[in-house]
Amino acid sequence: MVIGGKTGIGLGVAEAARASGASVIVASRRTETAETRPDLVPFTQVELDLRDESSVRAAFQTIGALDHLVVTASPDLGSWGTFMDDDMRGVRGYMEGKFLGSWASARHAAPLLRAGGSITFLTGGLAVRPKAGFAAATSAFAAVEALSASLALELAPTRVNTIRPGFIDTDMWRFLPTEQREGLRQKIAAAFPVRRIGQAADIGHAALFLMTNPYVTGTVVEVSGGETLVPSVS
Ligand SMILES: NC(=O)c1ccc[n+]([C@@H]2O[C@H](COP(=O)([O-])OP(=O)(O)OC[C@H]3O[C@@H](n4cnc5c(N)ncnc54)[C@H](OP(=O)(O)O)[C@@H]3O)[C@@H](O)[C@H]2O)c1
Repeated sequence: MVIGGKTGIGLGVAEAARASGASVIVASRRTETAETRPDLVPFTQVELDLRDESSVRAAFQTIGALDHLVVTASPDLGSWGTFMDDDMRGVRGYMEGKFLGSWASARHAAPLLRAGGSITFLTGGLAVRPKAGFAAATSAFAAVEALSASLALELAPTRVNTIRPGFIDTDMWRFLPTEQREGLRQKIAAAFPVRRIGQAADIGHAALFLMTNPYVTGTVVEVSGGETLVPSVS
């Protein structure tokens, strides 16, 4: 099951799992039709809202036993506001979705996971390289990574890991004007050791590794094209 699996990084994970022979459930707030999203036809779709624990519980009650849970979904980029906002609605909403949503997903999936199963969370480079204006995402990512290590102990022998991606070329960046988005791609291609921006399939590859390697737990896998070795591009 991939929560966030209908778009972006999550879809990259869902496609990698399907290509390796898995039956994949993709979950998010919406169900898409075959007309609008024919690419989702091979997947089972489930609706849930990470900010609402009862909807997470209800979704897991409908699906039964599963082998692996991957949680890539999180509230929209920018929805968290800034540290000095008049009120804390933004950060509460972001924490509710990213941190407590990851928590609730793992909480309700754990009893359903078959032997040999795994849970994989997703954070981002901000967890170790904070940037002014992004305190909520930075804190939420760090909290998810701490949760991941805690659950590797508490849910053992279920394996629990986290992927920390760098820049991945998905619609998360749609808020940037086309020229700026292209400029970012070019800056990354010039600066990063791998000479290109990341693709959702790069994260799908890492997720498949974490789902299938039986001896990896409690770890954070950075998939960033060497971003942390060079000066920041944004
Ligand atoms: N792309 C990058 O460069 C990058 C880098 C570092 C970290 N990340 C992290 O990875 C996350 C996913 O990135 P992405 O590129 O895959 O973005 P994306 O394509 O915008 O995916 C976000 C997904 O989350 C789902 N979602 C949003 N709010 C939800 C909620 N309350 N409950 C359930 N599902 C919800 C959305 O589906 P619905 O709208 O249908 O609910 C969508 O499928 C980002 O939010 C960020 O935390 C991304």
